[in-house]
Amino acid sequence: MAKKTKKAKAKSKPAAKKPPRKAAKAAAKPAAKKASAKPVAKKANGNGAYPKPSSKPFGMDGKALQGVRILDFTHVQSGPTCTQLLAWFGADVIKVERPGVGDITRGQLVDVKGADSLYFTMLNHNKRSITIDSKHPQGKRVLDELIRKCDVLVENFAPGALDRMGLTWEHIHKLNPRMIVASVKGFGPGPYEDCKVYENVAQCTGGSASTTGFRDGPPLVTGAQIGDSGTGLHLALGIVTALYQRTRTGRGQKVLCAMQDGVLNLARVKLRDQQRLKHGPLTEYSQYGEGIPFGDATPRAGNDSGGGQPGRILKCKGAPEDPNAYIYFITQAPVWGEICDVIGEPTWKTDPEFATPKARLPKLNQIFARIEEWTMTKTKFEAMEILNKFDIPCGPILSMKELAEDQSLRKTGTVVEVDHPVRGKYLSVGNPIKLSDSISEVKRSPLLGEHTDEILSSVLGFKASEIAEIKNSGALSAPEKKEKAA
Ligand code: COA
Repeated sequence: MAKKTKKAKAKSKPAAKKPPRKAAKAAAKPAAKKASAKPVAKKANGNGAYPKPSSKPFGMDGKALQGVRILDFTHVQSGPTCTQLLAWFGADVIKVERPGVGDITRGQLVDVKGADSLYFTMLNHNKRSITIDSKHPQGKRVLDELIRKCDVLVENFAPGALDRMGLTWEHIHKLNPRMIVASVKGFGPGPYEDCKVYENVAQCTGGSASTTGFRDGPPLVTGAQIGDSGTGLHLALGIVTALYQRTRTGRGQKVLCAMQDGVLNLARVKLRDQQRLKHGPLTEYSQYGEGIPFGDATPRAGNDSGGGQPGRILKCKGAPEDPNAYIYFITQAPVWGEICDVIGEPTWKTDPEFATPKARLPKLNQIFARIEEWTMTKTKFEAMEILNKFDIPCGPILSMKELAEDQSLRKTGTVVEVDHPVRGKYLSVGNPIKLSDSISEVKRSPLLGEHTDEILSSVLGFKASEIAEIKNSGALSAPEKKEKAA
C-alpha cells in the first residue's frame, strides 16, 4: 500500500504542471480506443498507417495497383502507353472502343492480314476491351455505370471531344467524386490548346527538334517517341500520384499532361544551355572548337555529349557499309590517362595541350579523329570490351535487330515473346520498370470487344435481360449490325 502511495505520488509530481485540457483529452482518447480496437497498424515515416509487412515471398502478394480500375478511353500511342503501364502494375484496365472500328491503330501499319497490327498489340497488353458507342443513349448509360465503378478515367481525345460526349468533369465528378480524370493533350492552356497533335508535332514544339541534328542540317525528330510514349509516362506518374493523394483527401482530381510540356521536360538540358549562352560560348559543343560563333538560341549539337563530358559517335570496323558499326565514346576526365594508353597516345597524358579538360575542349575534332583511328580497328563489341576494362564510358550502336535478339533483355523481360490468337507469336517490349514485389507478366492485347459481355455482367452487374436490351439498342455494335437490329 505504502509503495502504491509512493508511486502515485511520484507519478503525480509532474502533473503539478497541469497540461492544457485539450491535450489531456486528446491523450486520453487513443488510450480508450486502444482497449477495444484490433491491433492497430504502426505509423511509418510519420505519414500514415500501414499494415504489418507482408510475410509472403516478394512478388507473391499481389500487384502494386491491384484493386484499381481504369476506364481507358485512350487511342493511338500516348494514352495507351500510360494505361498499359498501369495494367502491368496490376490495374484492371477496361478499354472502351468504338464499335466495329476500335482504336484506329488496330488497322494501321498492318503486317499480317486480318490481325490487329503490331502498332496496336504492342501498346495494349494486359487490358480488357469493351465496345461502346459513347454517343448512343444506351452507350451513355453503360458509361455512367462504368464511371461509378472505376477509379480513373484516362483519355487522349482531341480537345473538347470528351465534353462533346457529355462526359464533362462536372458530370463525372457528380457520378463519382473519387474519380481521377487524366488527359493527354497536345498543348496546355494557351494559343494552341485546341490543336490536334501527333508525336512529331510535339517534338517540334517542345524544343527537341530545334536541338536535334547537325548544325548545318535541318531540325530532326528522334526515333524514340518522346512526345507520345514520353507523355504517357508522365501521365502514369500523375495518375498514381493522384491516387496516392486520394487516400488522404478521398476525392479525385484532373490530371493533365500536355505533349509540348512533356517534351520540354525531357529537353530541359537544352533550356539550361539557352541560358548559359548569355555568359559565353558552350565550350563542350563541337562548334566551339571549330571557331564557329554561337547564335541567340541553343544550337543543334550533332552527337556531342549532352553533359560536361565530351562524347562522339565513332566508326568501328565495318562502318560505314554496316550502318550500325559505330560506338559512342565519352572522354570522361578521370579516365583520360587510360584513354591515352588504349589509343596509343601516352604523351597526351602530360602534354599541357591535352592534359586538362579545358585544354582539350578546342581540340575535340583532333582528339576524336585520333580515337576513331583506334575504334576503326575493332568491332563495336571488341571496342566495348576493351574500354569497359578501364571504366571508359562507351556504348555500341545497337540495331533493333540486335536488341530483338539480345538474350539478356529476354531474361529480364524487357523484350518478350507474346502469343496472339490471330497473328501468332510476336516480340514486344515488356515493362521497363521493375518492381521487386509486383512482377509484370505481359498478356496479349484484347481483340475488339472481346470482354464486352464479361464487363457488363461481372463489373457492372447487369442481368442477362438488361444486356440483351442494351445490345439490341445497337449501342455496342457497328452501324451495319445496328441497322439489322432495328
Ligand atoms: N463512340 C463514339 N464516338 C467515339 C468513340 C466511341 N467509343 N470514341 C471516339 N469517338 C469520337 C469522338 O467523340 C470524336 O468525335 P467528335 O469529334 O465528334 O467529338 C471522334 O471520335 C474523333 O476523336 P478524336 O480524338 O478527334 O480523333 P482524331 O482521330 O480525329 O484525332 C488525335 C486523333 C490523336 C490527333 C487527337 O485525338 C488528339 O489530338 N489527341 C490529343 C493529343 C494526343 O494524344 N496525341 C497523340 C496521339 S498518339
